[in-house]
Amino acid sequence: MSAVSQTKRLMITDLAAMKNKTPIVCLTAYAANMARLLDAHIDCFIVGDSLGMVLYGHASTLGVSVDTMMEHGKTVVQHSHRACVVVDLPFGSYQSSPEQAFETASAILAYTGCQAIKLEGGMEMVDTVAFLTARGIPVMAHIGLKPQHLNQMGGYKYQGRSDAAAALLMDEALAFEKAGAFGLLLEGIKESVASDITLRVAIPTIGIGASVACDGQVLVTDDMIGLTQSAPKFARRYLNMAELIDKAVSDYACDVRNRAFPTLDHTFGTKPS
Ligand code: KIV
Repeated sequence: MSAVSQTKRLMITDLAAMKNKTPIVCLTAYAANMARLLDAHIDCFIVGDSLGMVLYGHASTLGVSVDTMMEHGKTVVQHSHRACVVVDLPFGSYQSSPEQAFETASAILAYTGCQAIKLEGGMEMVDTVAFLTARGIPVMAHIGLKPQHLNQMGGYKYQGRSDAAAALLMDEALAFEKAGAFGLLLEGIKESVASDITLRVAIPTIGIGASVACDGQVLVTDDMIGLTQSAPKFARRYLNMAELIDKAVSDYACDVRNRAFPTLDHTFGTKPS
């Protein structure tokens, strides 16, 4: 028997059991170091297609490919042990038919080893979610501000302002729950609408720019630690990482220019053996 202790990975059933008990802590991660550092503190990683903007500097999430999501998803799974990992289906990889969504989702689950996928949509995606969940694909449905719908929304605007828009969001939430989604991601939604949805559905809601009443919260980690140049109003900065990096790199550059680095401690064959 191996002496290595096994930490049990949280599954979607564990997240579901947290509803009405304890808030679910989620963050985005795209790479090995961040996965390793966050894993012990959070319940769920979202390997979001925000990586197109955050990591690759794209203007939107629209250009992210399935292959890119696969590599980042696999890395996050490989370098974490405890938190559930949910990987985004990127734009164009699932909207044309339930079959296309199944091909993409099953390939991502198989290649990355993640526990679930997330997709953006409204009523038009309900049948697809039912198709996927009936075939063993755990799905988180992302409603409200849907970054893949940027061009239709005319910008990143918060949703659910009118009574009709609020009612539609509630209908979408209930329809996705009925279709078998294990959770809902509520992004950029009027506070009262997000809290009403959270009360009505039996599945967990994860909020970002939504409501403190949601069953859990997620932030883009780079916004939270101050790596991104600007962050949305709803992102609280817990650290100014950009400032720390600036100081460290300026110290390093100074040491190199003054020949203060490397020292004997950092070079080979300089100490008597
Ligand atoms: O792509 C992303 O990072 C997201 C966040 C809202 C979690 O969907």
